[in-house]
Amino acid sequence: MTKEQPRPTAPSFEQHPTGFGIGVAAPRISWRFLSPDAVSGWEQSAYDVEIIHLPTSNVESHHVPSADSVLVPWPSQPLQPRGRARVRVRAYGAEGNPTEWSPWVAVECALLDQGNWAARPITTMAETERDGPQRPLRFRKCFTIPFALPIAKARLYITSLGSYHAYMNGRRVGDECLAPGWTSYNHRINYQVFDVADLINAGGENVLAVEVGEGWYATRLGFFGGRRCIWGEDLAVLAQMEVVSEAGEEFQVLSDESWKCSTSAIIRSEIYDGELYDAREESDGWTGGQPFDDSSWLGSRALPLPSARLVIPNAPPIRVTETIKPVKIFNTPLGKTIIDFGQNLVGTLCIHLLQKPPGSRVKFTHAEVLEDGELGVRPLRDAKCTDGVITSDRPLRDWSPRYTFHGFRYVQVDGWTATDPCPLTTSSVSALVMHTDMVRTGHFSCSHAMVNQLHENAVWSMRGNFLSVPTDCPQRDERLGWTGDIQIFCPSASFLYNTAGILGDWLQDVALEHLSQENLIPPLVIPNAIGDLWSGDPQAVWDDVTVLTPWDLYQSYGDVEILRRQYQSMVAWVDKGILRGPDGLWDVEHWQLGDWLDPNAPPDQPGNARTNATLVADVYLIRVTSIIAQVSDLLGEDANAARYHSDHARLRETFQAKYIAPSGLIVGDSQTALSLALLFSLHATEKQRATAAERLAYLVRLAAFRVSTGFVGTPIITYALSSTGYSQLAYRMLLERGCPSWLYPIAMGATTIWERWDSMKPDGSVNGGEMTSFNHYALGSVINWLHSTVGGISPLECGWRRIKIHPVPGGTISWAKASYETPYGALESSWEVLGDTFVLDLLVPPSTKALVVLPGDAVEQWVGSGRHSFRTPHVCKPWPPKPVRDFLGQPSEEFIA
Ligand code: BGC
Repeated sequence: MTKEQPRPTAPSFEQHPTGFGIGVAAPRISWRFLSPDAVSGWEQSAYDVEIIHLPTSNVESHHVPSADSVLVPWPSQPLQPRGRARVRVRAYGAEGNPTEWSPWVAVECALLDQGNWAARPITTMAETERDGPQRPLRFRKCFTIPFALPIAKARLYITSLGSYHAYMNGRRVGDECLAPGWTSYNHRINYQVFDVADLINAGGENVLAVEVGEGWYATRLGFFGGRRCIWGEDLAVLAQMEVVSEAGEEFQVLSDESWKCSTSAIIRSEIYDGELYDAREESDGWTGGQPFDDSSWLGSRALPLPSARLVIPNAPPIRVTETIKPVKIFNTPLGKTIIDFGQNLVGTLCIHLLQKPPGSRVKFTHAEVLEDGELGVRPLRDAKCTDGVITSDRPLRDWSPRYTFHGFRYVQVDGWTATDPCPLTTSSVSALVMHTDMVRTGHFSCSHAMVNQLHENAVWSMRGNFLSVPTDCPQRDERLGWTGDIQIFCPSASFLYNTAGILGDWLQDVALEHLSQENLIPPLVIPNAIGDLWSGDPQAVWDDVTVLTPWDLYQSYGDVEILRRQYQSMVAWVDKGILRGPDGLWDVEHWQLGDWLDPNAPPDQPGNARTNATLVADVYLIRVTSIIAQVSDLLGEDANAARYHSDHARLRETFQAKYIAPSGLIVGDSQTALSLALLFSLHATEKQRATAAERLAYLVRLAAFRVSTGFVGTPIITYALSSTGYSQLAYRMLLERGCPSWLYPIAMGATTIWERWDSMKPDGSVNGGEMTSFNHYALGSVINWLHSTVGGISPLECGWRRIKIHPVPGGTISWAKASYETPYGALESSWEVLGDTFVLDLLVPPSTKALVVLPGDAVEQWVGSGRHSFRTPHVCKPWPPKPVRDFLGQPSEEFIA
């Protein structure tokens, strides 16, 4: 009898979300497996790829004996710029039986080479504001296609200096927000490709219209007042439309000086300060599709093609991914009208219907919290976060600002109330949630509602801070690509969503910006919007992003090309950037951000943590050296590999001599220091390690299970405890509700992860520190422990071909589930404690193997794909663990379940 076979999914190309308009001529191909009937023990032994190079209909077949199904080489001749092909795949099991064919999928190359751009960027001929916000510009071009339809193919290749919306004959092209996205514009500028065949007007006049706002390109960015026009002063569009008829006739529309240009009805639109729209200034019909007189519009001024590379992003675009209705509208003690959306989110409002006498002004101010019952704008610092509308004589319908975004739960509305003839009601507005539209891959839930809310909050903070680049926060005058924050959060993020595109692209900017610094020290934020606001000093943990984040992505996606692309930057950082003392570890005199935001640090000195910041930096240095040694091995950089392996051994010994007592105790004696040494195996002997683990356990009990760690210790402390036999203490910390703890914000009603453990104080007041965001993902990194240790799933080898299933039950949690869409297919784990039995159900994806370790059982067993069930006797460990009490019996509180 033939064994059941899985079904391959439609193939994907490189890390691109769709395969339409890719930037690589010979794209690597991947497929996953669907196995609705959970085929057991299935492994791929070979595959077939069929390719039709369009417009031909010849089918090329390639048979490859290989177990690989992730990023396999393109087997045919490379595609040409604009070239198209159709591709399908099937795989063979171990017995040599083929699966069904995958669906055919189209792959199409974009322009590929800068030389294929015939268009030029165009800007206004008028004078523009240089010291304040620039008014968005509108461009239009009328044209008639000089041949008879039907059209075989019509593509719009487009980007802007600024952010743009494009329209063809009155209809919006695409659904992207804030395109072309944020990159290091002096190095790389994204462009987009759209299929516009359906928008072209057969036989008649056509209009291609584009509006460009400041976007990140020219807006004010950075704290202490920030800087404008960091990458350039001229807002411009670069558009190249190419149309081909079925008979092969070709026609192009190129942005050039013949385009008409005028100002927008949007008066200003800034990332931090918001957008002002004057409906009285609207010119109906400017986007085409109806008669419009543009004789008063000026011509355009052409600019040279940017020296930066025009590139196709692998990151999916920013889109509106959800619409949220208000929970309530209420009046504050000062009589202000406030809308509450019930969720701290990132995006904009959509005003469904607003009708007021012409010239009326309505203002929308966004904030994350209330303070003393009023809108809490203080944490926004120097960002106004205010959109405005000036009404015309017509109703305004479904209006949203276009070139800004806000982080908010509350919106104060001035100039529009519930008693107006067209009243403000919960039906008049919605919130549009915006972020890079990544594919969700990971889920977690368990029997504890507050832990589930903590996980949900981390998901929301990831959504809010993955907006083209990974940012620290989405609301105040930062919203910047702080390297340390994503370095910490990357493993958690890559479980929740597929980050290969967005983070892979962003890392290219990290390398470019890094390698263009004379001192080979990466800027602390990428794209580098802060320039001289940072001294340029090297910083462990943050700058270590150069090595650690490519490695983390490699662990999740198994894409060695990411390592190859980043290698030069990795080597430059480790060899040249790090400021070393005579012993090869970090210079002890050098100030480090360290275990940033340790709750024991004074609120106005977040770097003044309990843990020696040089020790933190040194552990990271040892880790980074070990990883760069492994990367060098993988890339065949043998001389470097040998050098880094020996550096690693030497630095580890130096560290032991410098910081570890013969007993195993660590100089500094903090939870972060001990966790670091335990997790990165820095002790020389098991005995020392046991002593350190025991000490960590004591400190955790001494702190009464409150969190005592900052950016560095927080993602690892639960791992350090559970991997050394103290999992009940990790659970006890997880389930603690007092301040500071992971569940404290949940008890305070948080819907996102906060920047500080006590961004909101127990009395409901907002932390007085000038750095207080309510949407910062870094301290949410504990969720990675929820995935790997509570849920029990993690990659054992890079790219999830070998999987580890090792749930560690504990605390009062009686069941947990975790699932992840691996590069091979769906992985699911679900466990429950039923009386004295532990029950585990698994779904292992085809072509992978999982190593299962059951609780209380040192026996490891390998299983292949398919569904598996395990039952094992279970003895609950003593619960709850007790805090260490002082001579007065403090702390006295007990565990709340
Ligand atoms: C950011 C952080 C960042 C830090 C480093 C802050 O203002 O919001 O998340 O990593 O600065 O200095």
